[in-house]
Amino acid sequence: MHTNVDALFSGLWQDYVKITPSADKIHDLLGDKSGQSDIVNDHIALRTFNLPKVGIDKLAQHLLNLGYEAKGDYDFEAKKLSAKHFEHSDLTKPKVFISELRVEEMPEKVQNIIHKMIDQMPEDAVNQTDFLYSGTHWQVSSQDYKTLLEHSEYAAWMSAWGYRANHFTVSVNHLKNVKSLEEVNQILKNAGYKLNTSGGEIKGGKDVCLAQSSTMADHAVAKFSDTELTIPSCFYEFAERFNLPSGELYQGFVAASADKIFESTNAK
Ligand code: NI
Repeated sequence: MHTNVDALFSGLWQDYVKITPSADKIHDLLGDKSGQSDIVNDHIALRTFNLPKVGIDKLAQHLLNLGYEAKGDYDFEAKKLSAKHFEHSDLTKPKVFISELRVEEMPEKVQNIIHKMIDQMPEDAVNQTDFLYSGTHWQVSSQDYKTLLEHSEYAAWMSAWGYRANHFTVSVNHLKNVKSLEEVNQILKNAGYKLNTSGGEIKGGKDVCLAQSSTMADHAVAKFSDTELTIPSCFYEFAERFNLPSGELYQGFVAASADKIFESTNAK
């Protein structure tokens, strides 16, 4: 496991930009041109399955070792997902949102494909230093991918991309030249980016102390056991945080908004 938070995020970022080429271009669009970068990462998101070998707690161990603590719990009933978020005592470090698919709530054929994937992983794979950005640990056919896609966009995405940051998030609060999430969205649309409009371009708002938007995922070539397919990979998110009544900046997430953000990797 990593012994340094920045080394972990550097590994995650290098892996993420390989299949998310938009990310660097978006930095150029939003960032301050004059000097030190004002692009601050609010959080990343990781996905997994609620199986003993790879559940949230297994992924979280990488973060707990680095001084992170579990904070919020979330439930996404329709998508059959549970999630937790983790914060570092040093609030300048990015937060981490980890979700897991409740496999037993899926149809049997979906369960069988997922078990077939996870059974191919060595028991201790989850402990390797780079596990959180190690991609897939299995062979899956394009037909199985399509079967998963019919029942869970999330499961299908996991079968193709595995363990890696599903998105990074620009903290709008830290941008010097862009004042609001509305302005971020306008800049992205002017540059030709497609935003996730599920639940509206902006999810949440000042009333829940967090406003979020995201691009629709880039497309990249995923390798299956029989062929390659060009499918949605990862996306970029934008978050504007507001103060709680106590005067402290809200650090949590909003389930209703996160529910829509998941759809940024939808293939259909
Ligand atoms: Ni997010």
